[in-house]
Amino acid sequence: MSSALTEPGTATETRSGDRRPPARLHHNNFYTSDLEATRHFYEDVAGLPLKVFWIEPVPKGQGTEQIGHAFFGLADGGLMAFMQYTEAAVQATQVSTQQPDSVHIALKVDDEQQKETRERVEAEGYEHFFFDHGVLRSLYVRDPNGLLVEFAVDPDGHEEMYRTEAERAHEMMRRFLAGDRTPTIPEKL
Ligand SMILES: [Fe+2]
Repeated sequence: MSSALTEPGTATETRSGDRRPPARLHHNNFYTSDLEATRHFYEDVAGLPLKVFWIEPVPKGQGTEQIGHAFFGLADGGLMAFMQYTEAAVQATQVSTQQPDSVHIALKVDDEQQKETRERVEAEGYEHFFFDHGVLRSLYVRDPNGLLVEFAVDPDGHEEMYRTEAERAHEMMRRFLAGDRTPTIPEKL
């Protein structure tokens, strides 16, 4: 049986009410070759306290030494996690590699948090840049692992904006997949 819901490459119909979304992001996990530099960046500069530190057995085939696993907390209980393999030969295959800048993690902050983070980032010389998307105003910072971290401030009235976007999201995706490339957000993005 074929329908818009099962055909590959088509945007699905809205099914609000069918699904209960996950409560929040539980954690994102990355690799590091310098746990202390990572702790300093996330805890002291970005303001995410160290919440959990596990010393874990390595998975089969990834050496014999234990892994250090640090979790840094967001205000909603979500976590950003970083693993360090101490065994050099294994670590060499597991450390983070440079990603295109489009691959990044974005953290929601308010104006004051973004300003304070920017001051600390500038004082310590982390690679960073600021970009006003017209929708979001974002500070991007390169963490000690080469990961780009965005500190994003939503515009005034964003609750209404996201409500409106949710109502038309499936329609916009269908349009795009059908070949319509008309931008729906300000040119400067
Ligand atoms: Fe982003």
